[in-house]
Amino acid sequence: MKICATVAETRAACRRAHTNSKRLGLVPTMGALHEGHLSLVRAAKAQCDAVAVSIFVNPTQFGPSEDLAKYPRQFERDCELLKKEGVAILFAPSAEEMYPKGEVTWVIVEGLSERLDGRSRPGHFRGVTTVVSKLFHIVEPDAAFFGQKDAAQSALIRRMVRDLNLPVEIVICPIVREPDGLAMSSRNAYLSPGERLRALALQRSLRRVEEEFRAGEKSVSSLIAAASEVFAEEPQVRLDYFEIVHPDTLDPVEQVSQPTLVAVAAYVGCTRLIDNIVLSF
Ligand code: PAJ
Repeated sequence: MKICATVAETRAACRRAHTNSKRLGLVPTMGALHEGHLSLVRAAKAQCDAVAVSIFVNPTQFGPSEDLAKYPRQFERDCELLKKEGVAILFAPSAEEMYPKGEVTWVIVEGLSERLDGRSRPGHFRGVTTVVSKLFHIVEPDAAFFGQKDAAQSALIRRMVRDLNLPVEIVICPIVREPDGLAMSSRNAYLSPGERLRALALQRSLRRVEEEFRAGEKSVSSLIAAASEVFAEEPQVRLDYFEIVHPDTLDPVEQVSQPTLVAVAAYVGCTRLIDNIVLSF
């Protein structure tokens, strides 16, 4: 595995990997890798001839009071995991390499960037879409792999690629969960044993909505009321949002009449967790 710290090295390595019309896949990450990340690497391996992974804890997607400084960093361990998966290129730049002083250009997916996590984390999605478009220009992948775990992020990236005619195929991979149903996340490492148990409320609320939907309930206000009961039973979990929206536009819907995204974000202690399901017929 070639480990590159600079844009120039990465671009050269990725162009070499592209020769002989090889298909190059990219998996962007912020490191502290778990089975969710590795599932994206495996999907990329299955669909591409060579895989590049990026590890970059992107400062522009963290708000001033968020966890940038304490975000878990385990570079050596991540490298070992990626080597075992047969990754060809790892791009791990410094913040100075990614953001030269004086940078003023942003990529903003208007409208969508203020929805869901964008509402409670102002500027977050602007940071995500800017860094992801920079990664696309540096790596020039044929395909890039993202997780359904971050459903709003995936919707914004799909929309950005469409609107800007970026020559990259976006592949969205299913959520990988712990055996008890908790969606895997690098932030799960922050949870105390008690919080780890309470964190299951997110998954329970989604399952409650799914059950009501399967039983015939299509009204969004009734589905949200069912989810609220779960959070009422778990007062130590502070709900940020529970929304039922169109999976591409992230617009709220009133009735479930087509595949619909049910997304939740909540604070368990100081840790903000997200999860989602798609209701389909
Ligand atoms: P990060 O949180 O490290 O996640 C990297 C990728 O792994 C994202 O596409 C995310 O959706 C996916 N992922 C995380 N947990 C998952 C799970 N349990 N199952 C399946 N996929 C999962 O998302 C980011 O980093 C950043 O915003 C990034 C896109 C790298 C831009 O900085």
